Amino acid sequence: MSNTQPLGRQDSLITLQAHILEQQARFPEASGTLSWVLSALSISAKIIANSVRRARLDDVLGSVGNENVQGEQQQKLDVIANEILLRTLGKREGVAVVASEENEEPVLLRSVGAGKYCVLFDPLDGSSNLDVCGGVGTIFSILRYDNPAHSDNGWLQTGSKQVAAGYVLYGSSTVLVMTIGMGVDMFVLDPAIGAFIRVAEKLQIPSANKSYSLNEGNRLTFPTGYNKYLDWAQANGYSSRYVGAMVADVHRILLKGGVFMYPPTKKAPNGKLRLMYEANPMAMLIEQAGGKAMATPQQRILDVTPTAIHQRVPVILGSPAEVDHVLTQLNAHP
Ligand code: AHG
Ligand code: MN
Ligand code: MN
Repeated sequence: MSNTQPLGRQDSLITLQAHILEQQARFPEASGTLSWVLSALSISAKIIANSVRRARLDDVLGSVGNENVQGEQQQKLDVIANEILLRTLGKREGVAVVASEENEEPVLLRSVGAGKYCVLFDPLDGSSNLDVCGGVGTIFSILRYDNPAHSDNGWLQTGSKQVAAGYVLYGSSTVLVMTIGMGVDMFVLDPAIGAFIRVAEKLQIPSANKSYSLNEGNRLTFPTGYNKYLDWAQANGYSSRYVGAMVADVHRILLKGGVFMYPPTKKAPNGKLRLMYEANPMAMLIEQAGGKAMATPQQRILDVTPTAIHQRVPVILGSPAEVDHVLTQLNAHP
């Protein structure tokens, strides 16, 4: 059963823009800069949603033939989505730094200063799903860039310092899920009017659900504890669900509960997912919704100290009870 209340006929209609202004009004000292950054992200989401829906018609499916800095094939839409984000964010005064999965280095737009932010993003997550019309997404993380101590590599802050985080899922509808540290809110794009409409406030992840999500094809090279967990889960009637696009998998976990994992493997000893623009924003959302997000049994993702913009981290996140079942096995088989 879903944990969200459907929008009733009597409820007021709140757009994302109105929601952002409503939240800003709660902080009389706020300059409104963050609101401008969030609004740029929402415009990007609408443009990317349109490109994703038209991809086959516009013949922009498939790879460009290049590898990105991660050594992964860049899809044409990875490049298009990245450019859309860079163009919409670049003009916003409050954005000092943008860092993307698709760019080797963060781009410095303005110098450090009051009301300045770093915006980190995965422009198109799960892009290999595009060819088969599967769900893909955009993930973003926002950090302050207002302290002179930030001027050198100032974007390398722990996830606990994020001021906002969110994702957009381009699925059967376009859904934007976001937090500014006051709970998690969800919006659906109404394509007829081009506006995101709030459909749920203060989402809470179900505390348990017998469902796990990971690439079981890598099982032979997982650390032992993960395999012991899978043995335990399968003996206890768990279901397996895996899209292969983090945004789609985490969205399901947020609404229905369960646990999502990307463990270390032989090929990727720290897991495959990127700390700064995949794991951290998802961890903030999941914790804000009452869930747990761990890198190891001892360490929250949000406490991992970053040393490089594209660094990877193991991910175990979801319903508290389900994350704990994984940690129990990892602790028992270190
Ligand atoms: P991206 O398309 O941004 O590179 O991300 C793909 C990621 C993530 O979305 C997903 O959870 C994971 O790769 C799937 O990896 P496997 O194919 O190894 O399962
Ligand atoms: Mn990704
Ligand atoms: Mn990507």
